Amino acid sequence: MNILVTGGAGFIGSHTVVELENAGFRPIILDDFSNSEKSVLDGLKNILGHDVECIEGNCNDTEVLRSVFASHKIDGVIHFAAAKAVGESVENPLKYYDLNVGSLIKLIRTMEEFGVKKMVFSSSCTVYGEPDEIPVTESTPRKPANSPYGNTKTICEDILRDTVLSGRNAQFVALRYFNPIGAHETAEIGELPSGVPSNLVPYITQTAAGLRNELTIFGDDYDTIDGTNIRDFIHVVDLAKAHVLALKFLEEKEEAYYDVFNIGTGKGNSVKELVDTFEEVNGVKLNYKIGPRRPGDTIKIYGDVNKSQDILGWKAEKTLAEALKDAWRWQQKLAERK
Ligand code: WQD
Repeated sequence: MNILVTGGAGFIGSHTVVELENAGFRPIILDDFSNSEKSVLDGLKNILGHDVECIEGNCNDTEVLRSVFASHKIDGVIHFAAAKAVGESVENPLKYYDLNVGSLIKLIRTMEEFGVKKMVFSSSCTVYGEPDEIPVTESTPRKPANSPYGNTKTICEDILRDTVLSGRNAQFVALRYFNPIGAHETAEIGELPSGVPSNLVPYITQTAAGLRNELTIFGDDYDTIDGTNIRDFIHVVDLAKAHVLALKFLEEKEEAYYDVFNIGTGKGNSVKELVDTFEEVNGVKLNYKIGPRRPGDTIKIYGDVNKSQDILGWKAEKTLAEALKDAWRWQQKLAERK
C-alpha cells in the first residue's frame, strides 16, 4: 500500500516513515521543508538502506495535491504537515488557521476527487485544555483551546467528524498525541527544532551540549508532587508505531468511520522528574534554575490509553529513560556533524 505522508520529513513524520517501511507499507513523503531539513532524507536512507520517495511541495496547495494523487496510486494518507509553535500562533493566528485548517480541507477534497478514503490525522492532547480529572479518556470533554494552534487541532477534529457524519464513505482517525520525545535508536533521525527550542527535551539536550547556558524550569509552585508540571512523555518511535496500527485498523473498515485515540504512555511524570532522569541515565549534570510559570501551561495531564490498546492493539513500550538516552545520543550525533 502506498501511503502519502504529509510532513514526512518532520520529527514524528520521519520516525513514522521508518515504521511504515518496517511494516511493509510504501511511504511517499510530501513536505515543503518549511520546518525541517533535507538531511532527514539521508538519515532515513541510512536506516532503511534505500531512498524514500519525497515530493517537495506545500500541502496547502490544491494543485500540488492533485499532481501527487494523479501521479501516484495513493491508498491512504497520514497528515502530519502543520505549523505547531504555540507562541507564534498567538501572534499570527491567520497563518495557523490558513495552514492547519486549510490544508486539511484541501486534502479531504483531493482525496475525494481521487477516491482515497483513509486518513490518520495528527491531533493533540492540547484539545483537553486543563482537564478537571486525570488521566483523560477520549470521552473527557474537550475544553476551549488556549492558543490558536490548539484551536486548529479542535477544528480539524470537527472537520474530520463532520465529513464522516455527512454520509461520505471515508475512514478517518485522529490520534491525540501527548508529549513526543526521544529519537530513533540509531541516532540517524531525531528532533531538529529551528532556533531556540520551546519544547522541554530539545532545550535540555542543547543545554547539556553547551549550546544553551541553562534550562529554566517554568514554575515549581504548582499543586503537583514536586511543584512542577506533569506531562505524559512518549517515545517518538512508540508514537510512530501507533500510526501503522491505526492504518492497519482502517484497512479493515469499509463503512464510514471516525474516531479519536489517546496516544501516550498512560503515566504522568513531572518536569523535575524528567530532568533528574536525564541526568541520571546519561551521567551528565544539567545547568538549570527555577523560573516563573509560563503563561498558558497546562498544570497536569496524562492520558488513559486503554482505548488504543483495546481497539488498535497499540501500547507504548519504551521507557522515559530510553527516550532520554536516545534524545541525548541524537544531540551528540548532531554535534559531530557540525
Ligand atoms: C513541557 C513542560 C513546560 C520548556 C506543547 C504544545 C502541545 C504539543 C507539544 C505540538 C511544560 C516545561 C518547557 C522549558 C520548562 N504539540 N518546560 N522549560 O507545553 O506540554 O506542549 O508541545 O507540537 O500542543 O502545547 O510541551 O515541551 O513545551 O513543555 O520548564 O524550557 O516543560 O512548562 O510543563 P507542552 P513543552
